[in-house]
Formats: sequence, C-alpha cells, structure tokens
Amino acid sequence: MSDALPSRDAVETLRAAFGRRLAEARTEADLKSIHDEYLGRKAGVVTGLLKRLGTLPPDERRAAGALINTLKQEVEASLDERRGALAATRPPAGAVDVTLSGRGLLSGREHPLMLVRRQVEDAFARMGYEVLEGPEVEDDFHNFEALNMPADHPARDMQDTLYLSEPIAGATWSSGRPATDLGRELHRSSRMAQASAATLLRTHTSAMQIRYMRAFPPPVRIIVPGRVYRRDNLDLTHTPMFQQIEGLVVGPDVTMADLKGTFDVLLREVFGDVRVRLRPSFFPYTEPSAEVDISCHKCGGTGCPICKQTGWLEILGSGMVHPAVFEAVGYDPEQVTGFAFGVGIERLAMLKYGVEDIRLFYENDLRFLEQFPAP
Ligand code: DAH
Repeated sequence: MSDALPSRDAVETLRAAFGRRLAEARTEADLKSIHDEYLGRKAGVVTGLLKRLGTLPPDERRAAGALINTLKQEVEASLDERRGALAATRPPAGAVDVTLSGRGLLSGREHPLMLVRRQVEDAFARMGYEVLEGPEVEDDFHNFEALNMPADHPARDMQDTLYLSEPIAGATWSSGRPATDLGRELHRSSRMAQASAATLLRTHTSAMQIRYMRAFPPPVRIIVPGRVYRRDNLDLTHTPMFQQIEGLVVGPDVTMADLKGTFDVLLREVFGDVRVRLRPSFFPYTEPSAEVDISCHKCGGTGCPICKQTGWLEILGSGMVHPAVFEAVGYDPEQVTGFAFGVGIERLAMLKYGVEDIRLFYENDLRFLEQFPAP
C-alpha cells in the first residue's frame, strides 16, 4: 500500500486501517508508533501518498491533494485526542494510588517446636507441675553418676557425650536456688566437690532430676524442658542438639498407675484420641522401666508407613525412680516412690505435624515455618 497511487480508494483504505490501529492502541508508545507509521517523514504511508501526488495527471492533483490532506489532519487530530485521553488517566507525578490494596504485614509466629513445648507445659501446669529449666553444661555426677551410671557403666554408651576441653568451675547452677547455696551443698562430700565443675554438655534433661531433688525435699512434681547435646551426625532423625522434656514426680505413694494416667492425659493432649501402652524397657535410673507407645494417630492403629505397619509409635522413655537415685540425692527410698520420664520435643513435633526431616526445625526456612498454626 505504501506505494499505491494517491487515489480516492487508497485514501479510504488507509483511513479504515488507521481507525482499526487506533482502536487497538493502549499506550503512549502505541500512539507514537502509529504516528510514525502514518505520518513519519520518511516512511509514513500518508506522507508517501503526498509525495506521490506528482505522479498524477495535473488536473487530478488538486482534488487528490485535498483528500490526502484531510486524512492527514484527521490522523493528527485523532492521535492528539487519544494522547490527551491517556494523559488524563495518568496519575500526576508522585501521586498515591489509593485504589491499590495494602501490603500484608509479615507477622511472626511461634516455632513449631515451641508450639509443642508450650502445649506440653500447659497440660502439666494444669496438673499442678512446676516448669523449670536447668543448666546445659553439666558435670558427670548429675548427668551420669547420681543417675545410677558409675564411670564404667555400659549404659553410658547409650549416649555419646560431648565433653568440654576444660572443666568450667562453678558453671552449674540449680534453678530456684542461689549458686552459693548450691556450692555449699555440693561441697558436702569430696566426691561431690569434684563433680561441681562442669565437664560436659548434658546428654539428657534427666540431670535436672538430681539437681532438683538435691535442692528440695519431697514431694516433687516438675517438668524440665530444655536443650540436650549428643555426638550425633546430622541426618533425618538426628541433630547434635535437640530438646527434651523431663518429668519427675516423687511422693509417699506414687505408683505406676499414676505414671500411666499422666501419659494418658499428656499424649491425648498432643495427639488427640490415641491409645497409650507401656512396654518393658531398661534405663539405669528407673526400675521398672517402660517405653511408652501411642496408637498411630495417622492410621488409628491399622498400620501405615508412619508407624511402619505396626500400628504403634514409640514416644518416650519412663519408669519408677530407682532407689539408688533416691539414695544419691539423700531421699529415703523407704519413704518415697516416684516416676520419671523423658520425651523428645522434636520427635513429638515430627509425629504430630508429619515432618520427616528433623533438620527442617533448625534451618529457619520461612516456607517451612509458615506452615504451622499462628498463635
Ligand atoms: N534420659 C532418657 C533419654 O534421654 C529418657 C528417659 C528415660 C528419661 C526414662 C527418664 C526416664 O526420666 O525415666 O533417652
């Protein structure tokens, strides 16, 4: 069309094509390219028609020239009009678009391990337990010896211990008591004086059983949430630091029925309507000892990949406090009995939320953390 003769038909065809192009234009850039296409000095098609007026017989030039000029003016006017309309919809520089929706505020939320820990703490607090923490750097006496694991006891191999390169004298403390009191108490015997320097990272919260009983007379009703450390490599189910909740109840008539009833309450609180069973087990600081299972909350006990087709999930270790432990803390095993337990918080959270890799809890990836209920 660009080299069509400047005839009446050619002008009409161009006018129609221009109308369609203009209708499609959305932006100022669109208008600019239409302008160049039609009115550009070198390649504009209307400009081209004007340039070729000279090829017409002289008596036709005047009429054709008028037609083409009319088209040219129309094109200019239409483009101007559209430019004006577009400019009118453009917000003034620096203006605020009040129709934009607001940006969502990022709100923090509790870490899944903290959710589970709090749930357990609340359940025990309602049952009248005291919630307290203990030191993470410990000594051999509290972590092992007083728990009926003397130096050569094979049960020490159950847990690979991280030792400090140098003992930290006086680094340990007992919750609820000034350190000076504790120091005096620890120096009652030379063996305990030796033990008062921290030499290791506690491998379990059970160490706090000893601290508490040595500081306070019975009855005892405590839970101790906190970090523990073991020489483990990172994999799906191990981290060298993880968290436990220890429980200890001591009194004149504490029985295994109390232990079972307590787990019924605790585990239903965390997992909903599950059955609880005890299996005989071994821990040096309890006799008898029991491993506690719940019926698989995913399949209801019929068998699935989560419970490895057994219908049961192993949840925690427990037992009746060993008389040797009472003796080590100065309680009279003829006067009191007690039960104790230790449960891994990560394990509870993994089972509760169906998390398959323990490392996710410590990577702090928001895409993971955001999947847990906000408070
Ligand atoms: N200390 C044990 C562990 O870390 C857990 C445990 C078992 C704690 C039995 C207890 C208990 O108090 O009675 O695996």
